[in-house]
Amino acid sequence: MHLAVLLFALALSVVTFALDNGLMRTPPMGWLAWERYRCDIDCTNDPKNCISENLFIDMADRLSEDGWRELGYVYVNIDDCWSSKKRDEEGRLQPDPKRFPGGIPKLARYMHDRGLKLGIYGDMGTYTCGGYPGTTLDKIEIDAQTFADWGVDMFKFDGCYSNASEQEQGYPLMSKALNATGRPIGYSCSWPAYQGGLPPKVNYSQLGEICNLWRNYGDIEDSWDSVLNIIDWFFENQDVLSAAAGPGRWNDPDMLVIGDFGLSMDQSRAQMSLWAIMAAPLFMSNDLRTISSGARSILQNKMVISINQDPLGIQGRRILKEKSGIEVFWRPLSDNASALVFFSRRHDMPYRYQTSLKKLSYPSGSYTIFDVFTGKTTALKDSTDFVVSVNPTGVVMWYVSAPAKMNLRQFYRGGRLLGSYHDDENGIPRVFL
Ligand SMILES: *[C@@H]1O[C@H](CO)[C@@H](O)[C@H](O)[C@H]1NC(C)=O
Ligand SMILES: *[C@@H]1O[C@H](CO)[C@@H](O)[C@H](O)[C@H]1NC(C)=O
Ligand SMILES: *[C@@H]1O[C@H](CO)[C@@H](O)[C@H](O)[C@H]1NC(C)=O
Ligand SMILES: *[C@@H]1O[C@H](CO)[C@@H](O)[C@H](O)[C@H]1NC(C)=O
Repeated sequence: MHLAVLLFALALSVVTFALDNGLMRTPPMGWLAWERYRCDIDCTNDPKNCISENLFIDMADRLSEDGWRELGYVYVNIDDCWSSKKRDEEGRLQPDPKRFPGGIPKLARYMHDRGLKLGIYGDMGTYTCGGYPGTTLDKIEIDAQTFADWGVDMFKFDGCYSNASEQEQGYPLMSKALNATGRPIGYSCSWPAYQGGLPPKVNYSQLGEICNLWRNYGDIEDSWDSVLNIIDWFFENQDVLSAAAGPGRWNDPDMLVIGDFGLSMDQSRAQMSLWAIMAAPLFMSNDLRTISSGARSILQNKMVISINQDPLGIQGRRILKEKSGIEVFWRPLSDNASALVFFSRRHDMPYRYQTSLKKLSYPSGSYTIFDVFTGKTTALKDSTDFVVSVNPTGVVMWYVSAPAKMNLRQFYRGGRLLGSYHDDENGIPRVFL
């Protein structure tokens, strides 16, 4: 199919209904405790890293003081192991009193005072995955109300210790219960991950109507193997998954592990790029207090963030798998622009991949290429062959402007102008940032 036709078809296919809470029209961004901090509750011996209000306060300070919030990283999300092992006398969940002495409302206020948002975690079932009190069907309303009363902004609903028929009742019921509180609360559903992530067991039309985002697949771990396994699954199933995504309703391939221990800088750029192609939520799970400047610059790259946050909200696809081990990914963006990622599965040396935009099905015309990680811009005709050098397990990522016939193009994120293209005196589009 011609790219322009495909783009049009995709644009039509995302005119579907999303959960009507007005939230997360672009993929949510922030920080989430789980991958890095797990169920570390040993505050005696590991006070800086245990699941306690101090950890979330520290991360909120970093998000608001180190330039993250301005880029869109606003959610600070608690995961499992925050609660007391017992509900209170009125049957409500309560935080562990030693580790959250100020209570959740105070933590929520701390976030809101800094322009951040607070997320919390629960589990549709008898227990959470970590063995804390779960939300059985009879507890759904009271738990939704408790989170709303506390001023929580997002809720992740895990699925340990429940069966398929309980989940079928529980996830839609929670959506209704959150809505009934009157507080807009972003709703993340782990339901599909517990049902294999694919139809017919998973109904993505229904999920889009009841959840803002959902986990389709297993938990990410701090290794390239894990990241690659997730990439493989999501792109092997891209026909089903891309059609399910759109503003207010996102597939969630899980957290960014950039800044942790398992990924090289090339692999970190690969995770960031492919999460942007997938229109994935960007939740970092790392230590923002000690993160390296290399990891920070990848996570704070404005161009890759603006691609991730493109308002059309179309989830991109893998368009080519070469025998050489090079793969090409593509995402259509607003203003007739697009993103391209050249990814290498090789393990030898930087691979010089030669192609042209025409070979990648682009309509004829002259384009401006903006290399997301080097910041270089180039003018390129569709028919001109080019070579990209792609490092082993690394990427080259491009923002590709609309063809030059349209002479002023601007790219925005969150209402803020990031840059614009004008044609120069020779009719060649140039980027101004
Ligand atoms: C609840 O749902 C209604 C109808 O779909 C919607 O108009 C409203 O904004 C929702 N409210 C919240 C708080 O999510
Ligand atoms: C699911 O669990 C409930 C108990 O909560 C039980 O009544 C029901 O039979 C179970 N359903 C299946 C399909 O296992
Ligand atoms: C999937 O959910 C949609 C929307 O809730 C519903 O209309 C449709 O019948 C469901 N499909 C199946 C196969 O259950
Ligand atoms: C995108 O391209 C189409 C077809 O070439 C054109 O009709 C439309 O005006 C363009 N849209 C923008 C925002 O440039």
